[in-house]
Amino acid sequence: MKLKALGLFFGIAFLFGCSPKPPQANTALSLKQVMEWVIDPNADVVWDSVKSISNIKGTTEIYPRTDAQWEAVRNSAATLVEAGNLLMIEGRAKEGDQWIEYSKRLSRTAEIALKAAQDKNKDALFDAGGKIYNACKACHDKYADFDK
Ligand code: HEC
Repeated sequence: MKLKALGLFFGIAFLFGCSPKPPQANTALSLKQVMEWVIDPNADVVWDSVKSISNIKGTTEIYPRTDAQWEAVRNSAATLVEAGNLLMIEGRAKEGDQWIEYSKRLSRTAEIALKAAQDKNKDALFDAGGKIYNACKACHDKYADFDK
């Protein structure tokens, strides 16, 4: 009987929408700081992880080889997945549906890099780097005044 009454109470509470408000996120970092201190350094880890360097002695292929190196890339890719969420929080998100789209695109492309790092697949990691770059660029073209 008591349980039924409680159920009824929550049912009514739900109907009238008295659900708790989402907690206020900390936006002490400006958008530019999130870009320069959180997103950019982690994107660099992903982009620098697979490349080839040519000089007079020949070509050197750079890619993660040890478990620790793969984990470092994985961690940065994971940070970029979450960074997409950071861009969508209230107080940081800019106007327009496209902002949300571009933020999600960053998370989505970073997820591909994350999977590649988990699979230790350097070719997939390289391709994912390109996809991440295009995600950055798409948003900058629309919302920032550089990169044009
Ligand atoms: C959802 C939109 C969005 C995405 C996605 C995004 N950026 Fe940005 N970024 C911006 C905006 C807007 C600014 C300008 C911020 C300002 O100046 O206040 C900016 C600024 C920057 C800056 C500072 C540049 C400068 O000279 O002021 C860097 C660096 C940067 N972004 C890197 C990146 C990288 C790397 C990625 C992808 C891994 C990325 N951003 C993804 C919107 C985005």
